[in-house]
Amino acid sequence: MKNHKIIVGNWKMNPASWKQAEKTFTGIEAGFKKNKNVTAVICPPFVYLAPLIKIPRRKVMVGAQNVFHELKGSFTGEVSIEMLADLKISHLIVGHSERRKLGESNETINKKVLLALKNKITPILCIGETTRDEEGQYLALIKEQLQKGLFGVSKADVEKIIIAYEPVWAIGATEAMNAHDIHQMMIFIKKSIVDIYKIKTPTSTPILYGGAVDPINCHGILTDGEADGLLIGRQSLEAKSFLEIITIAQALS
Ligand code: PGA
Repeated sequence: MKNHKIIVGNWKMNPASWKQAEKTFTGIEAGFKKNKNVTAVICPPFVYLAPLIKIPRRKVMVGAQNVFHELKGSFTGEVSIEMLADLKISHLIVGHSERRKLGESNETINKKVLLALKNKITPILCIGETTRDEEGQYLALIKEQLQKGLFGVSKADVEKIIIAYEPVWAIGATEAMNAHDIHQMMIFIKKSIVDIYKIKTPTSTPILYGGAVDPINCHGILTDGEADGLLIGRQSLEAKSFLEIITIAQALS
């Protein structure tokens, strides 16, 4: 669906209380008029997943920010994919740069992607360069993140994955990447998937952009940038700004 947009909020380690989490989520719920143009997803910290999932007649989907890469075993402090599947979460952020910075490798990320697919949870595979060099080495890095992250994922299943392109230097920054450069990256990622799978036509895998998205720049990112959606950090912590972005995406039919 060309005009369908996926708007994902990544709450990271916020907010500090359930009271605030409930307030923000119900605020988004109240203002979100479901239509076929937009899928809205909020990924809160683990502790808020269960109560948010239970909200009756929920229109906003709920996803997790991480999972442990092993299916079972004695792993103190970890959360398994089966626990998340049992809760019926819809999405799972995998390989966010903030987790890569903590030591997560492409191999572990790949295990998480495969676990999610097996448990019918949509993985949102995050990729992106830390810095850009004039020789374009960062493009090879992005292709490698894709290749390793998608290892063992069938051609059919690659269409069940969402890719989130997030240039690390734009995350938490004041300005997003410009729409022209985002468009270039969307093309590059599509082409990389075609190369990896040795196919002729691009897959329908949605590719999101993330990094300093706000209600002002989101229109350009979705139109000129041709992103299939957005991964939003700070601006998803306030119902008002998140809803503004959703409304703009919904108007793009
Ligand atoms: P930001 O975060 O929107 O606050 O830049 C984006 C992200 O980390 O996914």
